[in-house]
Amino acid sequence: MNNVLIIGSTGQIGTELTLELRDRGFGKVVAGYIPGAEPKDRLLESGPSAVVDITEAGQIAEVVSKYKVDTIYNLAALLSAVAESKPQLAWKIGMDGLFNVLEVARQYGCAVFTPSSIGVFGDNTPKDKTPQDTIRNPRTMYGVTKVAGELLSDYYYIRYGVDTRSVRFPGLISYVTPPGGGTTDYAVDIYYEAVRGNTFVCPIAAGTFMDMMYMRDALRAAIDLMLADPSRLIHRNAFNITSMSLEPETIYRSICRYIPDFRIEYRIDPLRQAIADSWPNSLDDTCAREEWGWKPLFDLDAMTQDMLSHLKE
Ligand code: SER
Repeated sequence: MNNVLIIGSTGQIGTELTLELRDRGFGKVVAGYIPGAEPKDRLLESGPSAVVDITEAGQIAEVVSKYKVDTIYNLAALLSAVAESKPQLAWKIGMDGLFNVLEVARQYGCAVFTPSSIGVFGDNTPKDKTPQDTIRNPRTMYGVTKVAGELLSDYYYIRYGVDTRSVRFPGLISYVTPPGGGTTDYAVDIYYEAVRGNTFVCPIAAGTFMDMMYMRDALRAAIDLMLADPSRLIHRNAFNITSMSLEPETIYRSICRYIPDFRIEYRIDPLRQAIADSWPNSLDDTCAREEWGWKPLFDLDAMTQDMLSHLKE
């Protein structure tokens, strides 16, 4: 991995991944963005940026050629809940966009990382310690595009030798760029409300377990997988990875250790709750651990301390 293009560089993952790759001293790390979501501050100042609309294959090819890009991080997506209000757009970005990325990668010899998600699973999937290779039958457009994206990425590897690799991210928690329109967003919002001194109104019912991960671990996963020895990879698109299986009360209690008068109440969002209920309680990430040495570093308490201290700043 030398010169990198990040598509969706100003989103929840992209902002931090772009800076992390630049800080680690990779070659050119190009921040791809769409008009209206321009990079700012350090993201803008620390390296090159370019307009890259994933639905425009020509724009992707131009930047890849100009900067001699060898690795593309394709982070453009609508998250699960918002995709249900705009399923056609979710398909256009998730599938037509991925097709464009894979075609450019085929022509220019790039490796591709496209995040997958716990959203690939559905009601018929085993809920606890969900295996790597199991039923994927989502009933959301987000999940449909993620399953199809995994299959298409594997196809390009098998058929054309395009070096595609991916992980199924759980809910990602960070204090830098908020997610937007996801089912797991509550696990980020709860920290913001705690620090603001507000009561948190939780859209997901107590007792609803989903896997979560601190962004620092997620960034390491996205980088380590692309640097992994390909001869060890039995799987490619996409590896189960996880850090912790959490429900709202667990996060709430963890925050209360530092902000004792913090309060939570519940006003369930039926759309998000139905999606959450269809997703696993916890994933089995043995394959990622064995094939490329995946290991999370942040547990709930370490994450809570880090989130609260940064948000208080
Ligand atoms: N965080 C995503 C969402 O909630 C899942 O991958 O949509």
